[in-house]
Amino acid sequence: MSYKELKFPKDSVFLVTGGAGFIGSNLCEAILSMGYKVRCMDNLSTGKRENVDLFIDNPNYTFLEKDIRNLEDCMEACDGVDYVMNEAAWGSVPRSIEMPLFYEENNIRGTLNMMEAARQKGVKKFVYASSSSVYGDHPVLPKTEGQEGNLLSPYALTKRVDEEYGKLYKKLYGLDTYGLRYFNVFGKRQDPNGAYAAVIPKFIKMLINDETPTINGDGKQSRDFTYVENVVEANLKACLAPTEAAGEAYNVAFGGREYLIDIYYMLCDALGKKIEPNFGPDRAGDIKHSNADISKAKKLLGYDPEYSFEKGIKLAIDWYKENL
Ligand SMILES: NC(=O)c1ccc[n+]([C@@H]2O[C@H](COP(=O)([O-])OP(=O)(O)OC[C@H]3O[C@@H](n4cnc5c(N)ncnc54)[C@H](O)[C@@H]3O)[C@@H](O)[C@H]2O)c1
Repeated sequence: MSYKELKFPKDSVFLVTGGAGFIGSNLCEAILSMGYKVRCMDNLSTGKRENVDLFIDNPNYTFLEKDIRNLEDCMEACDGVDYVMNEAAWGSVPRSIEMPLFYEENNIRGTLNMMEAARQKGVKKFVYASSSSVYGDHPVLPKTEGQEGNLLSPYALTKRVDEEYGKLYKKLYGLDTYGLRYFNVFGKRQDPNGAYAAVIPKFIKMLINDETPTINGDGKQSRDFTYVENVVEANLKACLAPTEAAGEAYNVAFGGREYLIDIYYMLCDALGKKIEPNFGPDRAGDIKHSNADISKAKKLLGYDPEYSFEKGIKLAIDWYKENL
C-alpha cells in the first residue's frame, strides 16, 4: 500500500527536525501533500533556506529556525505535536573522523534533547534517523538487525548511541520510539556540493559540467542505494506502527545491491557523457559492501518499498537535469 493512502487523525501535527535538509524536506513535502500540518525545525547548518521557501506559503507549514542542541528549543518545537520525525544531524563518516566532539554534541545530545522534549510533551510517536553505519565491520551480508560489528567512525557511534536511548526511552518512560537505519539514500534535493557530498548527486553534477569524478577505491564497492520516497514511506508507516514494535531499530533500504562502478557508467550513459573516472584511495571508515535485509521493517512496520534503484535513479537524474 502506498504511503499516500495512509490515514492519520484529521488535525495531526508532525514535527520534522532537519526539515530544511534533503530527507527532511522530502518528508515535509509528503506530509503536506497528504493534507496534514508540518512544523519544520532546522538550524540551517547544512540545510538550505530554499528548502523552506518551497513550502512557506502553505498554511499547514511552519518553520522554526531552532537548534536541537538546545532543550528549550526542542520543548517549544514539540508543544502540541503528535508525531516527531527526527532527521536533524550532521552526516558524513569522514567529516565525523575530523570532528568527533562536534558530532557527539550535535547528533547524540541533540537527539537526546528531542526524545526528552517529546516525552515531556506527550508526543505519540518518535521516529528518528539512524544509519547503516551502525553495522560497522560486521562481515555478514545482507545486514540484519542484531548482527552489528565494531564501529568504524564517530558518526556511526552517534547513531548507535541514539538507538540505545531510543530503546531506553521506550523501556523506562513508555515513549514509542522507532529507529530507522537508512542505507545510502538518494533523490531530489540531495546536495551535490562540497567535500562531503554523497556520491550520486556529486557524480551527476560533475558529469553534467563535463568534469572528471574521482571514485574512492576500485569502484567495486557495493551499496543498497535507496530512493528517498522509500524512506518517506518508512517514516510514515513507523508513525502508525503498533506500540509493540517500538524501542527497536529497522533497516530502511530497497534490499538491492549496486556497484559504484556500474552506477558511474549508468550515469554517463543517461547523461550522454563519455568521461573516464579517476580512481583515488579508499576512504577511512568505509566498508566494502553493504546491503540490507528489510524483512523486519516489512513485518513489523508494514514497509513495502515501491521504488527500485532503477526507478529512483531515473527520477533523480530528471530532477537534477532540471534543477542544477
Ligand atoms: N542521506 C543518507 O544517505 C543518510 C543515510 C543514513 C542516515 N542518514 C541520516 O538521515 C538524516 C537526514 O540526512 P540528510 O541526508 O537529509 O542530511 P542533510 O544534511 O541534508 O539534513 C540534515 C538537516 O539537519 C539540520 N541540522 C543539523 N544539525 C542540526 C541542529 N543541531 N539543530 C537543528 N537542525 C540541525 C541541517 O541544517 C540539515 O537541514 C540524518 O540524521 C542523517 O544522519 C542519512
